[in-house]
Amino acid sequence: MSQQHQAAEAPRSAVAAPRRDWWRDAVIYQVYPRSFADGDGDGMGDLKGIRSRLSYLRDLGVDAVWLSPFYASPQADAGYDVADYRAVDPMFGTLLDADALIRDAHRLGLRVIVDLVPNHSSDQHEWFKRAVAEGPGSPLRERYHFRPGRGRNGELPPNDWESIFGGPAWTRLPDGEWYLHLFAPEQPDFNWEHPAVGDEFRSILRFWLDMGVDGFRIDVAHGLVKAEGLPDLGTRDQVRLLGNDVMPFFDQDGVHEIYRQWRRVLDEYAGERVFVAEAWTPSVERTALYVRPDELHQAFNFQYLSTDWDAAALRAVIDRTLEAMRPVGAPATWVLSNHDVTRHATRFANPPGLGTQIRTAGDRALGLRRARAATLLMLALPGSAYLYQGEELGLPDVVDLPDEVRQDPAYFRGAGQDGFRDGCRVPIPWTRSGPSYGFGSKGSWLPQPAEWAELSVEAQQGVPGSTLEMYRSALAARRAHPDLGAGDAVEWLRAPEGVLAFRRGGFVCVANTTGESVTSPAHGRVLLASGEVTEAEGEVKVPSDTTVWFTTA
Ligand code: GLC
Repeated sequence: MSQQHQAAEAPRSAVAAPRRDWWRDAVIYQVYPRSFADGDGDGMGDLKGIRSRLSYLRDLGVDAVWLSPFYASPQADAGYDVADYRAVDPMFGTLLDADALIRDAHRLGLRVIVDLVPNHSSDQHEWFKRAVAEGPGSPLRERYHFRPGRGRNGELPPNDWESIFGGPAWTRLPDGEWYLHLFAPEQPDFNWEHPAVGDEFRSILRFWLDMGVDGFRIDVAHGLVKAEGLPDLGTRDQVRLLGNDVMPFFDQDGVHEIYRQWRRVLDEYAGERVFVAEAWTPSVERTALYVRPDELHQAFNFQYLSTDWDAAALRAVIDRTLEAMRPVGAPATWVLSNHDVTRHATRFANPPGLGTQIRTAGDRALGLRRARAATLLMLALPGSAYLYQGEELGLPDVVDLPDEVRQDPAYFRGAGQDGFRDGCRVPIPWTRSGPSYGFGSKGSWLPQPAEWAELSVEAQQGVPGSTLEMYRSALAARRAHPDLGAGDAVEWLRAPEGVLAFRRGGFVCVANTTGESVTSPAHGRVLLASGEVTEAEGEVKVPSDTTVWFTTA
């Protein structure tokens, strides 16, 4: 076996052999199908494109892939408006392509997690279309939230809830009734009190489990159950409250019974399949409720994602997370970027306190430097981590997309929570040249900046110190040093203000979040660093905004 062959093959053996509780420390890579790779040259990513790039993901060293929705959908919210949960949208391919993708991934030792969207369907879903067509009194209307309006002629919405995307959460039909949509009007909310809804979703779970998927990411997992009687919130500008409070439409305790039922379905299947919740809750303690032993496996740690690049704040959220997860026995699930937030390279390029939707490029070099440091910090923490496609290239958000190319429905409704999500959804540059930098044979559905040529996979591959190589080394190190992801605790070491230092078995991580370089004791050999470190006489100089991994092994 040649040297090169060994290097490429070695990391896979750990995954190929079934590893108990594989998900507890797994690194899972989010693919956003529209923007990953275009296999048929129509400017839109697809399943064929993803299949053609699976070996890249294998070589990157991730354990699993989570695919954002590729189901039949009018694409009012980029596929999070599903018209048929058991069909693939023609723009992404066919069910046969999905089957082939799952098989190919498994052959390469990669697990596949698909997105499940149970809070709402598309307004083009068969049930909703019939409910509308049949008019008031139709039993199908009970599967959604249809209500008469308030006011003398029913001209006012049934309650004061606002859509996450801006505007009222209700739309009135010509027949006079209103229906509830927490997101866009094209995304009517299901009524989870109706037994047919639960039956249907358990059947959808089985459909994809039978197809061989290894798990589900549950969209808006905190939203399915609404408070009895749909009570008014009594305040305007509700978007401000999201994530800070239990709302009558979010994080209601009733959701947990649904997940207990789902868990029983999943556990009938062999192969350690998993659920991960997208649950924006007011606290890590509330998030922990979703991952009790008889419910879901993981829940994204959005408190961590929302934390600025600041040592004290990071330490507080890390401690609090680990404490909250310990009693339920679930792993922490770290994440820095996804398809709904400004990429962390851009968040950290801007002043702190701006939240997760940022409209300015900021200091790009600083942002990248901090993003790399933040990634190494995250990958040194106990538990599982999610990566969002393109972060391994250090991609920034594209903040200056022209209005006419934008597709985020929230952008057009204004005043909502989201709106600037197209900036993190721009297709991936694979090569230095070509009509869409290797994304496909023609253009791409959102324009890529010219500077992305030098951020492409081709430009970074094999280049020591590139962001791509840093990610590859970090993921290889996680496989080689099981201490890195294992356990549920960190041992904090003394460190100057603005610096985090912690031990995890035979391994120490030092993250300097300040703008100055600091001197750290050498805690063993430098295994990896996000910037250039200099070592001398038992000490290591850690430059500003840099993370270093040491090993004593
Ligand atoms: C989730 C998705 C987001 C989508 C919303 C409505 O938050 O991640 O992209 O717009 O749900 O489905």
